[in-house]
Amino acid sequence: MSRPVIIALDFPTADQALTFLDQFPTGINLTVKIGMELFYAAGPQIVQAIEARGHAVFLDLKLHDIPNTVEAAMRVIGRLGVRYTTVHAAGGHVMLAAAKQGLVAGATERGLSAPKLLAITQLTSTNQAMLNTDQQIAGSVQASVVHYAELAQASGCDGVICSAQEVAAIHAAVGPDFIGITPGIRPATAAADDQQRVMTPTAAAKAGSNGLVVGRPITQATDSVQAYQQILTEWSAAND
Ligand code: C5P
Repeated sequence: MSRPVIIALDFPTADQALTFLDQFPTGINLTVKIGMELFYAAGPQIVQAIEARGHAVFLDLKLHDIPNTVEAAMRVIGRLGVRYTTVHAAGGHVMLAAAKQGLVAGATERGLSAPKLLAITQLTSTNQAMLNTDQQIAGSVQASVVHYAELAQASGCDGVICSAQEVAAIHAAVGPDFIGITPGIRPATAAADDQQRVMTPTAAAKAGSNGLVVGRPITQATDSVQAYQQILTEWSAAND
């Protein structure tokens, strides 16, 4: 299983995203995450422009709608050639299975491998009070996260996005081959920004993370290429 360091391209325009990528020497093939902000601003063309530079794309659009709509949207995403994409586990079994079916159908139409389908369990912005009061889900955040990981696996998803704090409990429940990609990563020397619970790349590797999502510690660094290389070196050493 490849264990990428995924750079979150949280930029408001295509120009800014491409200018950021221009700093990396040709020959370094990155995996980059395009979220709602950049995708809504720049559309599928930004996905194609980044893939044309040899980078892999994680298209993080967190779909959550009726099964028919999600299947149709995933069919379109499946044609884009992206490596990973996301869906909300809260949409339920039928929606998750429809998402997978749409992705596979879209990719097959183009002769591509289907993107890995990753489920969002509970957003890391959801705390215990919001879970119990707003969502009316009893129990702990971790119990809900593990439940959603089990549901995602049973529905054909390939993995989840989760906090590095949760990845060990998820793997204990669904097995080590179910992908757990973890944001909220900070090298020991970096600012936490607005992330509440952060882990270093080494700690995330020890917890069993299958890939990191890192944004500002790379995108806002004075030397982004060096910041990326440092994180990659630490992550690779911890995974050896
Ligand atoms: O800049 P930073 O490293 O905090 O960026 C993390 C990225 O991962 C952002 O794109 C953020 O939206 C995303 N993310 C997260 N926590 C989640 C899911 C996604 O921080 N639970």
